[in-house]
Amino acid sequence: MVRHIPFNRPSLIGNEIKYIRDAVRLGQLAGDGTYTGKCQDVICTLTAARKSLITHSCTAALEMAAVLCDLGSGDEVIMPSFTFVSTANAVVLRGATPVFVDIDPLTLNMDPAEVAKHVTPQTRAIFAVHYAGFPADMDALAEIAKAHDLMLVEDAAQALGATYKGRLAGSLGDMATLSFHETKNIISGEGGALTLNREDLFERAEIIREKGTNRSQFFRGQVDKYTWVDVGSSYLPGELIAAYLFAQLEAHSTILARRQAIFDTYMEAFAPFEELGKITRTKTPPHCVGNGHMFYLQLPDLKARTRFIKEMGERDINTPFHYVPLHSAPAGLKFGRTTGPLPCTDHVADTLVRLPMYFDLGPDIETVIGAASEILQTL
Ligand SMILES: Cc1ncc(COP(=O)(O)O)c(C=O)c1O
Repeated sequence: MVRHIPFNRPSLIGNEIKYIRDAVRLGQLAGDGTYTGKCQDVICTLTAARKSLITHSCTAALEMAAVLCDLGSGDEVIMPSFTFVSTANAVVLRGATPVFVDIDPLTLNMDPAEVAKHVTPQTRAIFAVHYAGFPADMDALAEIAKAHDLMLVEDAAQALGATYKGRLAGSLGDMATLSFHETKNIISGEGGALTLNREDLFERAEIIREKGTNRSQFFRGQVDKYTWVDVGSSYLPGELIAAYLFAQLEAHSTILARRQAIFDTYMEAFAPFEELGKITRTKTPPHCVGNGHMFYLQLPDLKARTRFIKEMGERDINTPFHYVPLHSAPAGLKFGRTTGPLPCTDHVADTLVRLPMYFDLGPDIETVIGAASEILQTL
């Protein structure tokens, strides 16, 4: 019988259930308890960020980042079109305008030359996405940000544990956002974090996460009552989520090693097809070390990609494409501004396909490689 191979499957790594039981025993299920603190300490270690705040999603962390950037009507934020909707929604929710630029075909990350070209007097921030866990060219982006006094935010949803010039994702800008959604390396079902590298943002970030109140200061005994002091929302996850997440974070090096081994196996298996010019494999941008988050292939065109996905599906193997570009999406047209044609974004969106990647993939990787090779031979 053919066994279904999904694109992603969440796994228990070890102590998740034990820690959830412990959180119940400790008697606090609301957020900001023992496990929230433990997660935040590990996240600071894994990102080298100065402070971290866990959230209920990366989407939530992006919304917090948009508030911390003080975005408002008339402001612009430069970002790739080839990203998840949350990068742009966070900006739109503040009344500001996402400005979509093209990606670099060699990195699939935002092209700094395009960013520099499209800074205007209205630009307030750059939101850089680290696609497939490989950091964007952050030195080049930091230079642009510095020259124009812009905030630099890393959308590091996929990039926990990856490095750029030996520096960890999450500490490469003013702040960064992480995802612990079940499709990521480290998971808690839904989950995320905001990391901060500027001390002047610490206090306000806590307030935004706690519905605009100074509740965190109250619990630390810094104020004698807590009250509404700023805009904010409910971005804090409960302790059950934090307990699950802590078990995963503790196992970070085991998870990363397993995923990297899968990545390496795929790279080796598909090298001959790249040599034949049939595909290109996942690109590692200069100065970057990835985190085994994703393995993708790029096929020659949309027709070949459609056929590949269909024929993998017939073998019961799920190989999805990825982002539908935001600049041409209905909401992108309504709320965003595009800097002209984005040919690389459109091409990558049409040709990229992702292969199954998860902790327990095991020997099924050979089935995936065998099926994909069979199809690629006929292209
Ligand atoms: C680049 C990027 N940003 C943000 C998100 C949103 O993450 P979450 O599902 O944790 O809100 C994703 C989700 O995949 C993503 O790929």
